Amino acid sequence: MKKILTLAALLMVISGCSGEHAASAAKPVNVTSLGGQTPVTKAVAVADEAQYPSHGTAIPRNFAEQPPLIPHKADYPITLKHNSCLGCHSWDRAAKMKATPVAKSHVLDDKGTLKGQNYFCTQCHVPQADNKHPLVGNSFSQP
Ligand code: HEC
Ligand code: HEC
Repeated sequence: MKKILTLAALLMVISGCSGEHAASAAKPVNVTSLGGQTPVTKAVAVADEAQYPSHGTAIPRNFAEQPPLIPHKADYPITLKHNSCLGCHSWDRAAKMKATPVAKSHVLDDKGTLKGQNYFCTQCHVPQADNKHPLVGNSFSQP
């Protein structure tokens, strides 16, 4: 029984490598490089990236009780187990990280224990950036 199985496996390997198989797999594949149509000898212009105000500056607020805008990138992960924003904005870390501690309204006690309702920061705080392109295209025209 073992011998038959070994023989069958061997046959499968051999047929897998046959010329017939290789010919059908050799279809041309159209791959576009990251440089697009630009020849490799030319430098490709870098795509415009969002420009955030520098890390040390807060953006002026426009009205009372406004959740302040985030003056830096805001893709720090917030998961059920870990909130990366607190790495800089929690009451015990903020001074060291030169960031504003989360507002008094966000905490339960004088140790800075965050309220559950304030855990998902980006529910209320949005980043503000200078973007070179409109984020959403608009083809609106007045009828
Ligand atoms: C690496 C440290 C760091 C991390 C991580 C970080 N921040 Fe900041 N944040 C700063 C610094 C520094 C400033 C600028 C000083 C200031 O205004 O607090 C700032 C500013 C802010 C402000 C403006 C405060 C104000 O008074 O105008 C908000 C809101 C803010 N961050 C929210 C967030 C949120 C939400 C996250 C997570 C998505 C986050 N930050 C992650 C360092 C950090
Ligand atoms: C439910 C909405 C909401 C959530 C969630 C929230 N904030 Fe705020 N945040 C506000 C509002 C509104 C203000 C301004 C009024 C105030 O100070 O309470 C504020 C103020 C702040 C300030 C400025 C404090 C100051 O003294 O000027 C910082 C920093 C901040 N939030 C960071 C955070 C971080 C970090 C998180 C997540 C851990 C978070 N916020 C979650 C609504 C929210």
